[in-house]
Amino acid sequence: MAVIAIYDSGVGGLSVYQEVVAKCPEHDYIFVSDNQQFPYGLKSEAELLTRVPAVVTRLDQRQRIDVLIMACNTASTIVLPTLRATFDFPVIGVVPAIKPAAEFSTTKRIGLLATPATVARPYTDRLIAEFAHDCHVLKIGSSDLVQLAEDKLFGREFDESIIGTILKPIIADAQIDCLVLACTHFPLLEAEIRSQLKKHDRHPRLLDSGEAIANRLVFLCQSFGLEPGESATRVALMTDNNVEAGFVTQLERMGFSELQHLIV
Ligand code: DGL
Repeated sequence: MAVIAIYDSGVGGLSVYQEVVAKCPEHDYIFVSDNQQFPYGLKSEAELLTRVPAVVTRLDQRQRIDVLIMACNTASTIVLPTLRATFDFPVIGVVPAIKPAAEFSTTKRIGLLATPATVARPYTDRLIAEFAHDCHVLKIGSSDLVQLAEDKLFGREFDESIIGTILKPIIADAQIDCLVLACTHFPLLEAEIRSQLKKHDRHPRLLDSGEAIANRLVFLCQSFGLEPGESATRVALMTDNNVEAGFVTQLERMGFSELQHLIV
């Protein structure tokens, strides 16, 4: 039985959880949300380089971890080398799906939707230079879209038309045939994103890294001999556990029967 921790600033980890649990249901899952410091997409690199290892250190002190999934593009694109150098367990990162997008695109025009931090990262530029040098990549960084995903999962009212406004540059470019959802919050809004694009007769392929992460987890579990167990548990840990009832219900629907406070 492996203990898999899935860590994001907020609800984005749940989009990753849905992908991995579909492939590896018989493990223990810990969903870790640093909601006290949300959003990461507006934080400096220095802040994340301090905060993220501090959260993982607390988690490591608290319990056994077999695999950590850093389910956040914003953090992964800066902090993965530090995490891998500090902790003994394997760390799976989440980085923008630029490579598959460039392979799929026939028009060689790609949209990249991420947090303001991820679109500005040299890491992202390097991915584009390496795998999509023959493509024009239109980058949009939006923390409002991250907040809308939080609102949806917390069961709050939200105005879908804001998504249309955020997507305007994508909608304006009819040649874009692929849109990379490079923030783990965004697959949670996939239906709403599709419907806003459809209103303008735009149907790019939406790509995220969820399936690749799930495949990586399967591979790691096999390589490390982490056998599936019988009674898989699901625990949610939040750095601020004062959350609305709507979110607790959402967590329960996804199988998380326990919500605990992770004090960092
Ligand atoms: N879900 C995170 C990501 O993939 C970021 C959200 C935030 O800004 O906190 O980048």
